[in-house]
Amino acid sequence: MSRSVLVTGGNRGIGLAIARAFADAGDKVAITYRSGEPPAGFLAVKCDITDPEQVEQAYKEIEDRHGPVEVLVANAGVTKDQLLMRMSEDDFTSVIDTNLTGTFRVVKRANRGMLRAKKGRVVLISSVVGLLGSAGQANYAASKAALVGFARSLARELGSRNITFNVVAPGFVDTDMTKVLSDEQRQNIVAQVPLGRYAQPEEIAATVRFLASDDASYITGAVIPVDGGLGMGH
Ligand SMILES: NC(=O)c1ccc[n+]([C@@H]2O[C@H](COP(=O)([O-])OP(=O)(O)OC[C@H]3O[C@@H](n4cnc5c(N)ncnc54)[C@H](OP(=O)(O)O)[C@@H]3O)[C@@H](O)[C@H]2O)c1
Repeated sequence: MSRSVLVTGGNRGIGLAIARAFADAGDKVAITYRSGEPPAGFLAVKCDITDPEQVEQAYKEIEDRHGPVEVLVANAGVTKDQLLMRMSEDDFTSVIDTNLTGTFRVVKRANRGMLRAKKGRVVLISSVVGLLGSAGQANYAASKAALVGFARSLARELGSRNITFNVVAPGFVDTDMTKVLSDEQRQNIVAQVPLGRYAQPEEIAATVRFLASDDASYITGAVIPVDGGLGMGH
């Protein structure tokens, strides 16, 4: 397979593992990054997904080099944790603007090409906390829960066009995002995970790649947990 794949936030963490998994399988992979030096081996386009013009520019560059995006992995995301009474308007809206509205921007733009091609795969990276809730993460959990309604609406809207929309809900993964947690917080989390450990980014990437493969041709509107059992039953 040599499809045109885009992974937002593919310069590090889970996104980089996803980008590598597609590239290893022979796909043409574009990644977005915001600052610094992007990793080698991909078409790296600078793009802040909170800026519609940068999103448009990034797609133009990718389409010129790789053709229309056939597989989109909307992975870019941020946290701004705070208890509700201390959470500012900006703490809330900036997380929603990146995790939810940013995802809307990249998905909408990708669908232009997918509608024309009459096929496409979209995978959104949510989180176990979108379903479980998490004290101090009302903004983040709300943004991640919203991705489920977003994906399922699009699965209904665009299923007849052969475009699938699925959600992957990781548990706690070893990346920069979780490095900020204290040892004590880490131990408390691991104690609640049936598998008793954090995930490696590659374990999330394997599920994403499956959802974009021919083997997943009849899966749409699904929320797939990759969380070591942490969110079981939710
Ligand atoms: N780590 C976990 O335990 C965990 C668990 C569940 C879900 N997730 C989700 O998985 C995804 C990846 O997380 P991660 O752990 O790999 O986080 P990470 O290491 O902090 O990386 C976040 C990525 O998102 C990008 N990003 C953030 N804001 C952006 C924006 N406005 N425009 C473009 N790119 C932006 C970052 O780009 P820069 O490098 O330019 O900042 C970076 O590539 C996120 O959606 C996260 O919510 C993570």
